[in-house]
Amino acid sequence: MTLPAQLQNLRIPLIGSPLFIISNPDLVIAQCKAGIIGSFPALNAREKDGDPILLEAWLTRINEELDRYNQANPDTPAAPYAVNQIVHRSNTRLERDIEICVKHKVPVWITSLGARVEVNEAAHSVGGITLHDVINDRFAHKAIEKGADGLIAVAAGAGGHAGALSPLALVQEIRAWFDGPLFLSGSIATGDALLAAQAMGADGGYAGSAFIATEEANAEDRYKQMIVESGASDIVYSDLFTGVWGNYLKPSIAAAGMDPENLERSDPSKMNFGESREKPKSWKEIWGSGQGIGAVKEVVPAAKLVDRIAGEYFAAFERLSGQVARYR
Ligand SMILES: Cc1cc2nc3c(=O)[nH]c(=O)nc-3n(C[C@H](O)[C@H](O)[C@H](O)COP(=O)(O)O)c2cc1C
Repeated sequence: MTLPAQLQNLRIPLIGSPLFIISNPDLVIAQCKAGIIGSFPALNAREKDGDPILLEAWLTRINEELDRYNQANPDTPAAPYAVNQIVHRSNTRLERDIEICVKHKVPVWITSLGARVEVNEAAHSVGGITLHDVINDRFAHKAIEKGADGLIAVAAGAGGHAGALSPLALVQEIRAWFDGPLFLSGSIATGDALLAAQAMGADGGYAGSAFIATEEANAEDRYKQMIVESGASDIVYSDLFTGVWGNYLKPSIAAAGMDPENLERSDPSKMNFGESREKPKSWKEIWGSGQGIGAVKEVVPAAKLVDRIAGEYFAAFERLSGQVARYR
């Protein structure tokens, strides 16, 4: 199946994934100008009571800056941006945020934690497309039945709320029946891994944790540094902190006075993804990350990270192309 217009003409087939708190207009604009889809969760735009709606201001700025950039660079235009909606009953802002995204004609909508027909219809009403993230084949079927245009397969090793399935198994099962847009999420931090996602059958990759260690990301320097210094064995999979299984940096859990090797199980009835996520104060500095961060060696501007991934991607492509004759 041909990809929708929004997903064609990227510099490399990569989406910078939405990161709670961390993704902001600076990061999104830098990602899009560098040629990959940049995204942010709508809930990251939080105004104080009585202040103008921040999501409006963010979308106005992103649309204007990218329009200006495209006029100045007609041969190498920016990639489109995406807004992530958390479709969970605790998100009391969902309806308002959908209206704002319709008003600003958001081109790509990423939905998480729930598939709903009306969100897909809202995106389609302004020519947008929706990508729904799923951790297994059953949820993938549900999302497509509800009208999503494409899927993000969130496999084991992804940062934030992650699945438990091997990316090989997950992509294989979804591709057995779905030929629409499919992006793979989980530990993609190099161009080699991005090409591997395509070799498996996905159309592209979805990378989050590597972008935490960028200058634009809204994260504390200590968090960025911990990403730089950590590797796969520093990550623990737990449902304690949000009620949903996810991957976290062990050193941040230890710093909060807990033993990352012996974490309790959570109470799922306490799940809250609304504006006021009540958490013990000591959890504020428990930091999410996927397993792919061994590839992250320094904090750099987002454009430089995209340059590195793009360089590796094309080098990996050539390396493998050179091997085709040997196996044919
Ligand atoms: C700190 C952090 C926050 C995240 N917040 C969100 C979020 O608000 N919405 C969402 O759909 N995904 C969120 N994710 C998941 C990512 O979108 C994506 O699936 C993941 O980062 C990909 O794996 P990687 O980090 O190994 O690249 C988050 C991930 C991290 C690490």
